[in-house]
Parts: sequence; structure tokens; C-alpha cells
Amino acid sequence: MANQEAAGFDGVSDRSALQEFSVSNSESFWAAVARQRLSWIRPFHTVQDCDLSRGEIKWFVGGQLNVSVNCLDRHVHTCPERVALIWERDESGSEVKVTYRSLLEMTCRLGNLLRRHGVKRGDCVTIYMPTCPLAVASMLACARIGAAHNVVFAGFSAEALAERIRDAQSGTVITVNQGVRGGKVTELKKTVDTAVQSCPAVQQVFVAMRTENPVAMTARDVAMEEEMLKEDVVCEPAAMDSEDVLFLLYTSGSTGKPKGLVHTQAGYLLYAALTHRYVFSYHDGDVFGCVADIGWITGHSYSVYGPLANGGTTVLFESTPIYPDPGRYWEMVQRLKINQFYGAPTAIRLLLKYGDEWVHKYDRSTLKTLGSVGEPINTEAWEWYHRVVGDGRCPVVDTWWQTETGGICISPRPSDADAEIVPGMAMRPFFSIKPTLMDTEGKVLTSNDVSGALCIAQPWPGMARTIHNNHQRFIETYCRPHPGYFFTGDGAYRSKEGYYQITGRLDDVINVSGHRIGTAEIEDNQCAAVAESAVIGYSHDLKGQGVYAFVVLKNDVEVQGAALCQQLNNMVSKKIAKYACPDFIQVFVQRLPKTRSGKIMRRVLRKVVERDLDGVGDLSTLDDPTAVQEIIQGHGDLCGKQP
Ligand code: WTA
Repeated sequence: MANQEAAGFDGVSDRSALQEFSVSNSESFWAAVARQRLSWIRPFHTVQDCDLSRGEIKWFVGGQLNVSVNCLDRHVHTCPERVALIWERDESGSEVKVTYRSLLEMTCRLGNLLRRHGVKRGDCVTIYMPTCPLAVASMLACARIGAAHNVVFAGFSAEALAERIRDAQSGTVITVNQGVRGGKVTELKKTVDTAVQSCPAVQQVFVAMRTENPVAMTARDVAMEEEMLKEDVVCEPAAMDSEDVLFLLYTSGSTGKPKGLVHTQAGYLLYAALTHRYVFSYHDGDVFGCVADIGWITGHSYSVYGPLANGGTTVLFESTPIYPDPGRYWEMVQRLKINQFYGAPTAIRLLLKYGDEWVHKYDRSTLKTLGSVGEPINTEAWEWYHRVVGDGRCPVVDTWWQTETGGICISPRPSDADAEIVPGMAMRPFFSIKPTLMDTEGKVLTSNDVSGALCIAQPWPGMARTIHNNHQRFIETYCRPHPGYFFTGDGAYRSKEGYYQITGRLDDVINVSGHRIGTAEIEDNQCAAVAESAVIGYSHDLKGQGVYAFVVLKNDVEVQGAALCQQLNNMVSKKIAKYACPDFIQVFVQRLPKTRSGKIMRRVLRKVVERDLDGVGDLSTLDDPTAVQEIIQGHGDLCGKQP
């Protein structure tokens, strides 16, 4: 597979030699790959200029290119009628195919429209749309004219959207009249209307029509498709510096405020393209089916940028795994002849429960590789994916990465075709990635069969460059914990054989169905009756992690438990999104367990929820140990009642 890359380097003959070469000669490796795989307007003069300890990361300095040209124009020259996108609409069996030629036309019209409406190089455009061709064209149109995009997952509430629009200083929003998912209509334009009321900088909202139902338009709204028709199909691409911003993508961290991670042009695109090709063994002519929403990094890198940079055919999945029935994925695989399927463990666990017949019903013989992303995949789900979905024929790649890493960093492939794959393990670092485990004192763990904090020892082109408007937070979160290393926030185990297995987050981030949410973000939602709250993640059968909230009421408050829970859930779904709502809310009257200095002891709360009372450990540092008894009692009562 990697022969094309290996051929370029002296003395490198096979894959493992290439892996070693790419780690110890990362600059020569990436220079060669960048020259070979990207079309440059002006060549770069410096491969990299990085200082991890200061959070200064620059790749391909001096180079200029345009990402949309790399994703579209160069393929239109060679194969204009090749299908770029297959839009798998929510209504099963009504897919729409978009060729490279027509995606380029769409992108150019939209680029011209944005320009005509004053969007300039360096501006940031917020995209609040379901996964669809116009959303992809919007991303690429921004790239074409040099604007940054900020895609906000269309499941986020008006308040969460507004916060992201404001933080990104976006003056333009692109949306659709209504969304359709799992047969349900959502009022996306109305959500935008509510959001922009608190975003004075927003001058214009472009509205595309996903359904035929008209929506109320205001003076600031522009009917997108209608106006696009008036535009030319040629749009001059902006010459962008390698390190100009390509996009912002907000994700949760351990504070209450989501952070806008910044990815830049050349390095991000190259890394997405190379990982897409090698991790999934993507070949020309394959149909790539990543079912992630474009609102998350997986949708960015593996529904859009990676496949398009490689001239691939990529599926845009608008629906859910169980609509209209639990055979949806596999019926789609049969109908669209999908060769690589990339999905989330939470969906696999859900489908597993519905039984094998939903899979067996459909022809899956086109499948070659199965991928998993977003959270650890348990052995049972992995085995089922491999044995039932892939008929035991397809390698399953458990891919570890993050919004911050831009693309896959650890995955069983690429490796030799017969190299072993261990269930539920990401296993092997990608080219040039050097994973390092740290002990609690911050010392590098050199042996095998150890666990520690997962860091990456040298920069790679796909990594995020900063947090929008907050470089200090970037440094503190990723660079300061282990100076000279990029700290991922995850823990990992390195096996006797030297394979990596991700064990989960080390910070206060919960991974609900593969979606990140910070405990502090949920805790910020307090109503008048609540004195204080603490939120933790706990192990959940389907979602991977569920949200468990401990709520302490103010003195003399009289509220019914159920009514209060309803109120708190409404608040979280209004302020953030439905997926962030607690599965359990335990209401009680005493204080949360705290140290004498006032820090909430989450360790204790976690142990109570895990029913590991012996593991609660030393409570002598607790301010008021009797509080714990009440919590244990309340937890028992609650779990007897709720699902
Ligand atoms: C978790 C998603 C175990 C991890 C691409 C990481 C995983 C966070 C895996 C990033 C995996 C992702 N095994 N855990 N294969 N993939 N994670 O930014 O905790 O939405 O830090 O990016 O998901 O989530 P994000």
C-alpha cells in the first residue's frame, strides 16, 4: 500500500521501514508527501517551524495553495463526471449523486455569492446545516474565497449556536429552512433566528431549502439557491498561505466554555488525505461511507476533506442508524455499494441489540474495511462488527484521534495485510506519530505493559494550531502539562507487544455516544432551586458514557423531584443540546463531598455511581463525611426507580 510513498525514500523498502523513517525523518517524509499529493500555487520553502513547548506550530511555510482547488478543480480536469458526493438523504432510497463538475459549479456560485455579499478573506462564516451537498459546497466556498468556516452541529440549541457565532466573530450564517432526520422535521432557520438576536455582528443569513415548506424571511435573510443561480460558475480561488485559517470547530473541554480549535490549510488537508487513503486502504473508484455528521471533526476530515482531496466518492449520511428500521446502514451499503464503512461504537452497540437478521438481509460483499471512531469500542461490539457486519472478511480499524489532532493518529492500519489486529485496540501510530506515555510525575514511561497519560512527542501537519482568540488556553491545555509534548487529555495502555489501547479521558470531559461534553458546561445550568451541582460520566451500555448529575437544593426549597428533573433537563437541552441531558439526576439536601479547601471530590461520586464503595478510599480529607452516606442512600433509591 505504502509503496508509492516508500519509493521516494532511499533505503526504505517496506511499510515498517517507512514508519520508522517517517518518525525519525518527519521533515523529509512530509516534504515529499506534500509535494507529491497537494497542488501548490507557490511551493513552500520551510517544511516546518514548530516549538511545541510554546505552542507554535507551522508547516509548509512560504507555500500557497487553495484547498477547494485541491478538492475539486484538479479532479475536474481528470475526471469531471466522477461522483464526488452521494447524498444519502433521510428518506431512504432517494439518494442524490453530485459529480466533481457539479460540486465545483455549486462551490463557485456560492463563493461568488458570498463575495458579492461582502464576505472577505479572513472572515468567518458559521454553517448550521444538516449533512448535505450544499453544506459541503458552503465549506468549500469559504475555502475558495479565503474565509474560515465554523460548522456548528445542527443538534445544538439556539443558545449554544449563538455562543459559537459570537466567539467566532462571525458576520454571516448559512442554514436551511428545516432539517429532516429520522423522519422528524427540525426548525433550523427558526433556531438561527433566535440565535442571531443575541449576535449583533451577524449581518446576513443565507437560507437553503431542504424541505418545501416556506419559512419567514427577514431583511437580513438571503434565499440561497435562488441567488446562486444568478452567479457565475467560475470563481477565482484565493491564494492562501499554508498557515492561514481553514476552519474553526468548537469542542468541549474541562471548563464551561467550548473552545474553537483552529485548523489551517495545507497541513490539515494533507494529513486528512493521507490518513484517509492509508488507514482505510482507499483506492480510486471506491465508495467511502463515513456516517458521521459534518458538524463534528469526523465529518470534516473523513466525509469531506480527506476523500475529496483524494478524488474519492464520499457518502453524506443525513439519517440515523435505525430509520426507517435497524437495517438502514446495511441496506445503504448494498444500494450504494459502499467499500469502506466508518461509524461509531454507540451505533454498533445499538444495532447489535436488534439482532443479526437486520444485517444478513442485505448484501455487504462490497465492504472491504470497517472503521470505528469516537470512543473505545468494547470487545463484544468489535467482534460483532467484524463477524456479522464484515462476515469475518474485513479488517476492523479502531481509529483514535481528536478534534485537536485533525486526523487519525493511532489505528491498526496501515500495516502489512497480514499484520494482526487485536479487538478493541487502536494499536499502531500513523506515519510520523510518536505516542508517549507519562507517569503521574510527568516522567516518560519507556517500558511496555504500562499505562499513562497519552502524549505525542513531535508535531505533525494535521494538529490544531491554536484555540480561536485564546492561545493561552491552547498552551495551558495541550503544551504545559508535559513541556515539549502535545498532551491529548486521554489515558492509554501500551501492551507487551507495544500496541496502544485508549482507556478514556483524564479530564472532566464526558464522551456521550462519541460526542464530547464538559462536565462544567452542564453544571453551569442551574435553576433557582439549585444550590450547587456536580456532573460525572458513568459507564452506559449504549452510549459508552452517560451523564449523572448530583444536585443540591437550596435550603427551604420545595420542589417535586420529577418536576425539578424535567426543568433541569429542559434547561440543558435549551442551553446546549439534547445529547448533553443527564440520564440520572440525584437530588439531595446536604453538601457535595468536598475537600476542606472546597474542591468537589468527583472520585467519590464516581465510586458511588460505580457501586464500588470499597474503592471510595480515604474520606478523611472530606469536609463532611456524612454527606457521602446520604449520597450512597440516594443513589440506591434512584437506581431502583430509573432505567
Ligand atoms: C475519544 C473524535 C477510544 C477520546 C474523532 C478522544 C476514542 C475524544 C477513540 C475525541 C477511539 C476518539 N478509542 N477513544 N478509537 N476515538 N476517542 O474531538 O477520548 O470528538 O480524546 O474527536 O474521543 O473526541 P472528538
